[in-house]
Amino acid sequence: MIKDERWEGVYSFEDSPYLMETLTNLRNVSTENISFRKGLVRLGRYMGYELTKTMEFEEMHVQTPLEKTKGIFPKDRSNVVIITILRAAFPLMEGLIKNFESAKVGIVSASRGHAPDFKIEMNYIKVPQVTPEDTVIVSDPMIATGSTLIHVLKEFKDSKPKRMMIVGVLAAPEGINAVKAEFPDVEIFVTKIDDKLNSDGYIVPGLGDAGDRAFGEPFKVSMLPQMHNLE
Ligand code: URA
Repeated sequence: MIKDERWEGVYSFEDSPYLMETLTNLRNVSTENISFRKGLVRLGRYMGYELTKTMEFEEMHVQTPLEKTKGIFPKDRSNVVIITILRAAFPLMEGLIKNFESAKVGIVSASRGHAPDFKIEMNYIKVPQVTPEDTVIVSDPMIATGSTLIHVLKEFKDSKPKRMMIVGVLAAPEGINAVKAEFPDVEIFVTKIDDKLNSDGYIVPGLGDAGDRAFGEPFKVSMLPQMHNLE
Protein backbone atom coordinates (compact mmCIF):
# COMPACT_ATOMS: atom_id res chain seq x y z
CA MET A 1 0.00 0.00 0.00
CA ILE A 2 1.49 3.37 -1.02
CA LYS A 3 0.38 6.71 0.40
CA ASP A 4 -0.16 9.27 -2.36
CA GLU A 5 1.65 12.46 -1.35
CA ARG A 6 -0.83 14.67 -3.25
CA TRP A 7 -3.61 14.08 -0.69
CA GLU A 8 -4.12 13.07 2.93
CA GLY A 9 -5.50 9.56 3.37
CA VAL A 10 -5.29 8.40 -0.25
CA TYR A 11 -3.59 5.07 -0.96
CA SER A 12 -2.85 2.95 -4.03
CA PHE A 13 -1.57 -0.61 -4.37
CA GLU A 14 0.96 -0.18 -7.14
CA ASP A 15 3.46 -2.03 -4.96
CA SER A 16 1.39 -5.22 -5.20
CA PRO A 17 2.20 -7.38 -8.25
CA TYR A 18 -0.89 -9.49 -7.49
CA LEU A 19 -3.18 -6.48 -7.71
CA MET A 20 -1.37 -4.96 -10.69
CA GLU A 21 -1.71 -8.27 -12.58
CA THR A 22 -5.44 -8.33 -11.79
CA LEU A 23 -5.80 -4.69 -12.84
CA THR A 24 -4.02 -5.42 -16.13
CA ASN A 25 -6.57 -8.13 -16.89
CA LEU A 26 -9.43 -5.78 -16.05
CA ARG A 27 -8.02 -3.10 -18.34
CA ASN A 28 -7.60 -5.53 -21.23
CA VAL A 29 -10.39 -4.93 -23.75
CA SER A 30 -10.38 -8.66 -24.58
CA THR A 31 -11.30 -9.71 -21.03
CA GLU A 32 -14.84 -11.13 -21.08
CA ASN A 33 -17.63 -10.52 -18.54
CA ILE A 34 -16.96 -13.61 -16.39
CA SER A 35 -13.23 -12.98 -16.04
CA PHE A 36 -13.93 -9.31 -15.42
CA ARG A 37 -16.30 -10.11 -12.57
CA LYS A 38 -13.86 -12.63 -11.13
CA GLY A 39 -11.15 -9.97 -11.28
CA LEU A 40 -13.31 -7.54 -9.30
CA VAL A 41 -13.96 -10.22 -6.66
CA ARG A 42 -10.20 -10.90 -6.41
CA LEU A 43 -9.48 -7.21 -5.98
CA GLY A 44 -12.16 -6.80 -3.30
CA ARG A 45 -10.87 -9.80 -1.41
CA TYR A 46 -7.22 -8.80 -1.48
CA MET A 47 -7.87 -5.11 -0.80
CA GLY A 48 -10.12 -6.07 2.12
CA TYR A 49 -7.26 -8.15 3.53
CA GLU A 50 -4.90 -5.16 3.22
CA LEU A 51 -7.46 -2.90 4.89
CA THR A 52 -7.56 -5.11 7.96
CA LYS A 53 -3.92 -4.12 8.56
CA THR A 54 -5.09 -0.53 9.11
CA MET A 55 -7.74 -1.54 11.66
CA GLU A 56 -7.60 -1.63 15.45
CA PHE A 57 -7.53 -4.90 17.33
CA GLU A 58 -7.78 -5.57 21.06
CA GLU A 59 -5.50 -7.93 22.91
CA MET A 60 -7.23 -10.86 24.55
CA HIS A 61 -6.34 -14.17 26.09
CA VAL A 62 -7.30 -17.50 24.63
CA GLN A 63 -7.27 -20.91 26.27
CA THR A 64 -5.67 -23.54 24.00
CA PRO A 65 -6.02 -27.24 24.91
CA LEU A 66 -2.59 -26.84 26.62
CA GLU A 67 -2.46 -23.40 28.21
CA LYS A 68 -3.58 -19.80 28.13
CA THR A 69 -1.91 -17.56 25.54
CA LYS A 70 -2.28 -14.14 23.99
CA GLY A 71 -4.56 -13.50 21.04
CA ILE A 72 -6.40 -10.61 19.43
CA PHE A 73 -10.03 -9.61 19.13
CA PRO A 74 -10.81 -7.94 15.78
CA LYS A 75 -12.63 -4.91 17.18
CA ASP A 76 -12.88 -2.81 14.00
CA ARG A 77 -13.14 -5.75 11.62
CA SER A 78 -16.30 -6.77 13.47
CA ASN A 79 -17.93 -3.36 12.96
CA VAL A 80 -17.94 -2.81 9.22
CA VAL A 81 -20.73 -1.50 7.02
CA ILE A 82 -20.21 -2.01 3.29
CA ILE A 83 -22.19 0.24 0.97
CA THR A 84 -22.56 -1.10 -2.54
CA ILE A 85 -23.35 1.26 -5.37
CA LEU A 86 -25.27 -0.54 -8.12
CA ARG A 87 -24.23 -2.15 -10.36
CA ALA A 88 -20.50 -2.62 -10.86
CA ALA A 89 -19.70 -2.62 -7.14
CA PHE A 90 -21.45 -5.96 -6.59
CA PRO A 91 -18.45 -8.20 -7.39
CA LEU A 92 -16.14 -5.85 -5.46
CA MET A 93 -18.45 -6.15 -2.44
CA GLU A 94 -18.49 -9.93 -2.84
CA GLY A 95 -14.70 -9.90 -2.46
CA LEU A 96 -14.69 -7.43 0.44
CA ILE A 97 -17.23 -9.40 2.43
CA LYS A 98 -14.95 -12.43 2.36
CA ASN A 99 -12.69 -10.45 4.70
CA PHE A 100 -15.46 -8.77 6.64
CA GLU A 101 -17.76 -11.74 7.16
CA SER A 102 -19.91 -9.99 9.74
CA ALA A 103 -20.28 -6.76 7.77
CA LYS A 104 -23.67 -5.16 7.42
CA VAL A 105 -24.39 -4.35 3.78
CA GLY A 106 -26.30 -1.44 2.27
CA ILE A 107 -27.36 -0.88 -1.32
CA VAL A 108 -27.57 2.41 -3.19
CA SER A 109 -28.84 2.77 -6.72
CA ALA A 110 -27.38 5.82 -8.39
CA SER A 111 -26.81 6.69 -11.98
CA ARG A 112 -24.87 9.41 -13.69
CA GLY A 113 -26.22 11.34 -16.65
CA HIS A 114 -24.20 12.34 -19.69
CA ALA A 115 -21.65 15.10 -20.20
CA PRO A 116 -21.35 18.00 -19.64
CA ASP A 117 -23.41 18.17 -16.41
CA PHE A 118 -23.23 14.47 -15.34
CA LYS A 119 -26.46 14.82 -13.37
CA ILE A 120 -26.70 12.24 -10.57
CA GLU A 121 -29.95 10.45 -9.81
CA MET A 122 -30.23 8.39 -6.66
CA ASN A 123 -33.47 6.46 -6.67
CA TYR A 124 -33.02 3.69 -4.13
CA ILE A 125 -31.26 3.53 -0.79
CA LYS A 126 -31.45 0.63 1.64
CA VAL A 127 -28.77 0.91 4.30
CA PRO A 128 -28.31 -0.39 7.84
CA GLN A 129 -28.00 1.87 10.86
CA VAL A 130 -24.47 3.18 11.25
CA THR A 131 -23.00 3.77 14.73
CA PRO A 132 -19.87 5.65 15.91
CA GLU A 133 -18.07 2.28 16.29
CA ASP A 134 -18.56 1.44 12.63
CA THR A 135 -16.20 1.69 9.68
CA VAL A 136 -18.20 2.55 6.58
CA ILE A 137 -16.67 1.20 3.38
CA VAL A 138 -18.26 2.57 0.22
CA SER A 139 -17.40 0.24 -2.61
CA ASP A 140 -17.41 1.85 -6.04
CA PRO A 141 -15.01 0.56 -8.70
CA MET A 142 -14.52 3.86 -10.52
CA ILE A 143 -13.94 7.17 -8.73
CA ALA A 144 -14.51 9.36 -11.76
CA THR A 145 -16.18 12.75 -11.14
CA GLY A 146 -16.78 11.79 -7.49
CA SER A 147 -20.35 13.21 -7.58
CA THR A 148 -22.14 9.94 -6.82
CA LEU A 149 -19.78 9.22 -3.95
CA ILE A 150 -20.32 12.67 -2.45
CA HIS A 151 -24.09 12.12 -2.41
CA VAL A 152 -23.65 8.68 -0.88
CA LEU A 153 -21.22 9.87 1.80
CA LYS A 154 -23.65 12.65 2.79
CA GLU A 155 -26.12 9.94 3.84
CA PHE A 156 -23.69 8.76 6.58
CA LYS A 157 -22.11 11.99 7.76
CA ASP A 158 -24.56 12.57 10.62
CA SER A 159 -24.04 9.04 12.01
CA LYS A 160 -20.39 10.01 12.72
CA PRO A 161 -18.86 6.60 11.96
CA LYS A 162 -15.36 5.88 13.27
CA ARG A 163 -13.96 5.83 9.72
CA MET A 164 -15.42 6.40 6.29
CA MET A 165 -13.53 4.96 3.37
CA ILE A 166 -13.96 4.41 -0.34
CA VAL A 167 -12.60 1.26 -1.93
CA GLY A 168 -12.31 1.25 -5.70
CA VAL A 169 -10.34 -0.07 -8.63
CA LEU A 170 -9.31 3.20 -10.28
CA ALA A 171 -9.59 6.88 -9.48
CA ALA A 172 -9.12 10.04 -11.51
CA PRO A 173 -7.38 12.93 -9.71
CA GLU A 174 -10.46 15.06 -10.48
CA GLY A 175 -12.71 12.66 -8.56
CA ILE A 176 -10.36 12.49 -5.58
CA ASN A 177 -10.17 16.30 -5.46
CA ALA A 178 -13.97 16.59 -5.52
CA VAL A 179 -14.48 14.02 -2.74
CA LYS A 180 -11.67 15.44 -0.59
CA ALA A 181 -13.03 19.00 -0.95
CA GLU A 182 -16.31 17.88 0.68
CA PHE A 183 -15.00 15.11 2.93
CA PRO A 184 -11.35 15.74 3.86
CA ASP A 185 -11.34 12.86 6.36
CA VAL A 186 -12.61 10.18 4.00
CA GLU A 187 -9.89 7.64 3.22
CA ILE A 188 -9.56 6.41 -0.34
CA PHE A 189 -8.04 3.06 -1.33
CA VAL A 190 -7.67 2.22 -5.04
CA THR A 191 -5.37 -0.09 -6.96
CA LYS A 192 -4.13 2.84 -9.04
CA ILE A 193 -4.73 6.55 -9.63
CA ASP A 194 -5.01 7.07 -13.37
CA ASP A 195 -4.14 10.14 -15.46
CA LYS A 196 -7.41 12.02 -15.94
CA LEU A 197 -11.07 12.08 -16.90
CA ASN A 198 -11.99 12.48 -20.55
CA SER A 199 -14.79 14.79 -21.72
CA ASP A 200 -17.29 11.90 -21.49
CA GLY A 201 -16.44 11.37 -17.83
CA TYR A 202 -14.42 8.19 -18.36
CA ILE A 203 -11.21 7.52 -16.48
CA VAL A 204 -8.19 7.39 -18.83
CA PRO A 205 -6.50 5.01 -19.50
CA GLY A 206 -9.12 3.30 -17.30
CA LEU A 207 -10.95 0.11 -18.14
CA GLY A 208 -14.11 1.40 -19.82
CA ASP A 209 -17.56 1.14 -18.29
CA ALA A 210 -17.11 -1.16 -15.30
CA GLY A 211 -20.83 -2.07 -15.16
CA ASP A 212 -20.98 -3.02 -18.84
CA ARG A 213 -17.68 -4.90 -18.63
CA ALA A 214 -18.94 -6.91 -15.64
CA PHE A 215 -22.55 -7.50 -16.66
CA GLY A 216 -22.85 -6.70 -20.37
CA GLU A 217 -24.34 -3.69 -22.09
CA PRO A 218 -27.89 -2.97 -20.89
CA PHE A 219 -30.78 -3.40 -23.31
CA LYS A 220 -33.16 -1.28 -21.31
CA VAL A 221 -32.60 1.28 -18.56
CA SER A 222 -35.56 2.80 -16.78
CA MET A 223 -35.73 4.77 -13.59
CA LEU A 224 -38.32 4.17 -10.88
CA PRO A 225 -40.02 7.20 -9.28
CA GLN A 226 -37.15 9.22 -7.93
CA MET A 227 -36.36 9.59 -4.25
CA HIS A 228 -33.94 12.40 -4.86
CA ASN A 229 -33.25 14.43 -7.93
CA LEU A 230 -29.87 15.90 -7.41
CA GLU A 231 -28.16 18.63 -9.35
N1 URA B 1 -17.58 4.73 -14.57
C1 URA B 1 -17.03 3.71 -15.26
O1 URA B 1 -17.55 2.61 -15.26
N2 URA B 1 -15.89 3.94 -15.95
C2 URA B 1 -15.28 5.13 -15.96
O2 URA B 1 -14.23 5.27 -16.58
C3 URA B 1 -15.87 6.19 -15.23
C4 URA B 1 -17.01 5.97 -14.54
